[in-house]
Amino acid sequence: MVTFTLNGATVSADVSIDTPLIDVIRGTAGATGTKQACGAGVCGACTVLLDGKAVVSCLTPVGHVAGKAVTSVEGIGRHKLHPVQKAFMAEDALQCGFCTPGFVVAAAAFHDDWRATHGTTAPAVQDVARALAGHLCRCGAYAGITRAVIAACRGLHDGDVTHGQRYEARDKVTGAAKYTVDISEEGQLTGLILRSPHAHADVRSIDVKPALAVPGVKAAVSLLGDDTIVRYAGQAVAAVAAVDLATARVGLAAIKIAYSPKLAVTSAAAARRKDAPLVYGNRFWRTAVNSAEGPALPTPWSGNKRGPVNGFSQRIFSARSRLSAAGGRNDPLLITGTWRNAGQSHTCLEPHAAVAKRDGDKIVVHASTQASHFLAGRIAAQEGTKDVTVFAEHVGGGFGSKVSMGMETKAALALSRAAGKPVRVVFDRAEELSVAGFRPETEIAIKLLATTDGRLDSLSVRTHSCAGVAINSTVSGLARLMYPAECKELVDYDVVTNLPPGSPFRGPGGPPLCFALEQAVDDAAIRLKMDPIALRQRWDPEPGRQRLYTWAKALDVWQTRSEAGRETGRFRRGRGVAAGNWLYLAQPNTRVAMGVRGGRLYVASGAQDMGQGARTLLAEVAAAAFGVTPNSVEVDIGRSNLPTGPMAAGSRSTASLVPAVRAAAEQLKARLRAETRGNVGDNAAWSEIVAKAPDINIESGRPADSTTINPQLRSPLKDAGMIGTAFDWMLRTFAHIETGRGAAGAVQIAEVEVDTWLGTTRVRRFYSGLTVGVPQVRRLAESQAEGSIIQGIGYALYEAREYAPASGHVLSAGLDDYRIPGIGDTPEMIVHFDEKGFEHVPGGGVGIGEIATLPVAAAIANAIHNATGVRPYEAPIRPDRLLAGLDRKQGA
Ligand code: FES
Repeated sequence: MVTFTLNGATVSADVSIDTPLIDVIRGTAGATGTKQACGAGVCGACTVLLDGKAVVSCLTPVGHVAGKAVTSVEGIGRHKLHPVQKAFMAEDALQCGFCTPGFVVAAAAFHDDWRATHGTTAPAVQDVARALAGHLCRCGAYAGITRAVIAACRGLHDGDVTHGQRYEARDKVTGAAKYTVDISEEGQLTGLILRSPHAHADVRSIDVKPALAVPGVKAAVSLLGDDTIVRYAGQAVAAVAAVDLATARVGLAAIKIAYSPKLAVTSAAAARRKDAPLVYGNRFWRTAVNSAEGPALPTPWSGNKRGPVNGFSQRIFSARSRLSAAGGRNDPLLITGTWRNAGQSHTCLEPHAAVAKRDGDKIVVHASTQASHFLAGRIAAQEGTKDVTVFAEHVGGGFGSKVSMGMETKAALALSRAAGKPVRVVFDRAEELSVAGFRPETEIAIKLLATTDGRLDSLSVRTHSCAGVAINSTVSGLARLMYPAECKELVDYDVVTNLPPGSPFRGPGGPPLCFALEQAVDDAAIRLKMDPIALRQRWDPEPGRQRLYTWAKALDVWQTRSEAGRETGRFRRGRGVAAGNWLYLAQPNTRVAMGVRGGRLYVASGAQDMGQGARTLLAEVAAAAFGVTPNSVEVDIGRSNLPTGPMAAGSRSTASLVPAVRAAAEQLKARLRAETRGNVGDNAAWSEIVAKAPDINIESGRPADSTTINPQLRSPLKDAGMIGTAFDWMLRTFAHIETGRGAAGAVQIAEVEVDTWLGTTRVRRFYSGLTVGVPQVRRLAESQAEGSIIQGIGYALYEAREYAPASGHVLSAGLDDYRIPGIGDTPEMIVHFDEKGFEHVPGGGVGIGEIATLPVAAAIANAIHNATGVRPYEAPIRPDRLLAGLDRKQGA
């Protein structure tokens, strides 16, 4: 029996002394504010104070804390919010909030220590970075965190006034916010998934009965469908549910499976060889996993290659002949190059998780999902019942990986059916980084021909994408939406391998395309002896980005830029620009409920908040319509039994929800006037009318023409001649979406410093110009844009999925092996919103998350070229690659 105090209360646990402290805190004590994200002491999410010192509770044996005082996030603001908590709320130092408890605990300890020794002197940014170096935030809220800690140390949040930028900020800084991993139902069992150790094998037999003989195992099921071939190491084959994790592990080990291993291909290069073993035989092509948000069109296959998909091309034969002729005459204005990008894991700090509970035909699922309505529909269809409710109260990040129904949900449903009890399945970090999706790796070959008078003549973009066993990546096709040329050859291929499937990731296809295309455009500017921004401004007619180019050119950071490769010495600085174009989508079936309850306004939608700020958006828009403060509006989201909410995907939340709330507000106002007539004066404020009104509920949707009010402004698809194409059809077919009018755009400038001895790159400053209309909630919009920059820095410099070539196992399966940016990697970030161009959209603005991340890696690559003269053709731009480039340049 180990006894210690947690937040002042005695905790006694009858457990082995080597049990991780976090298990006792979250399990025995039920203090779920402390989060487990990596289980390896790397991410800091589980940080608690032990006798006042910050420790990671996942690596602290509970025996070590016997007789000591432990403080979790719940204890930090137990009696009164800590200044750090108030500062986090005020500075919007959080998005999804899953990392926040760990940051708050460590920052509070730093703050208390700093104040005791330095009074209210502000710590330097580096002091804060050093103190919080052991913490990771995948949403990239580092700038807000740094501002918050400095402000708290300066004593700016000592008072009682607490102003939160984000509706649910208080719940997130105190650990009260409940995520799927925190759900505990009566009699709940722990589910675990057994995964194939083979990259390719026939499953000859599977016997789950021995698992059922293990005391404490309550259910064991096969997860193999009709297809008994496993095609990647880590593919789910069976699952058990047991009374606890340790028993579930014993149960998994007892399952008997006979495999006949087959030859496997574990890299795109190997898969493209003529004699490569086939991942899908002829009759299995239709079973290929879809890695995209849209449906896969019938497309020819050859071996492990699917394609070409070239329907987005424009005068393809002219493009081919012009580019070939330019190559034949060694035209100096023909830019050619092949760029490669590694796969990027989403790395949500809250892993994929689901809890399934049944009561007859009634099914309740808690899921970490970006699409609660869609998921409820899928479950209902699969289980043959209409009575399905999906809860997603808080979601600890998704970035595209939690859009579809994942294996965690499938396993929880199957196990709950077999056990007759609620079952929770939570991926561990190795599963999360191996089989929970990733941005596909790409190889992009570009030929770009400019004319001597500075026009873009023709363009060829040929992409081979590898999403493991999955297909349907579109990269080249996106080049139709940027830089009109006289002719374009845009060709996409999928290459399948015996590796886990990729999935959509923030702006699917956009970042790798920008990485290649924007460097090619940069080279064209150098050959034409033109300013790279001026060339883009000449080639890119989009009005929003035209304004952004003018903004960017005038910045001091650009005005003082030197020519490429002029810098000398060990540390060399450079500046690079890149631009991006993205569609915004809207979900026309979006509905909201709005009304008055107990004299208070409320707004409800089946949307979910994974950190993008859906609650805050609803509160702000509803409050603005009534001229009241946002915190006087009650917001209810995160349940599929609320009016249909949009998926949190495809930058559609803002464009879908804002019109619906505005329409609902107008209807509610009319009802309120009618209901309170005679009780209030004609000039009464809405707050008075609402306070005196009876309970009212109205439900309304988004007006059908809400993004088409200005018929002159066409969709970027139409401008690119793509209405009626397969691409347009794919977008409209999937989840009832439509493409918005006008294009979201970005023009970004990176300033880097390269250490030419070590090959490392540091991004010093980053300017992000965005044309997304008027930000609905400015501070949150800036947070989204800053987080997108941080993820783009990871894509450019650090992140790469690595596989064991022989076995196909994912080697980058821990946060110590898969490097995402930390607080010390955060540059100074300047976000500029060009607010024009979306006046036709109710609310005047659209989503930010995708467009803001598209050109980041390209801008960094162009800045590295500007600093060193080395053109980065491969991302991540690792030190060894950069040093090799410098060597080549020196030798040339
Ligand atoms: Fe840090 Fe989401 S807010 S991981």
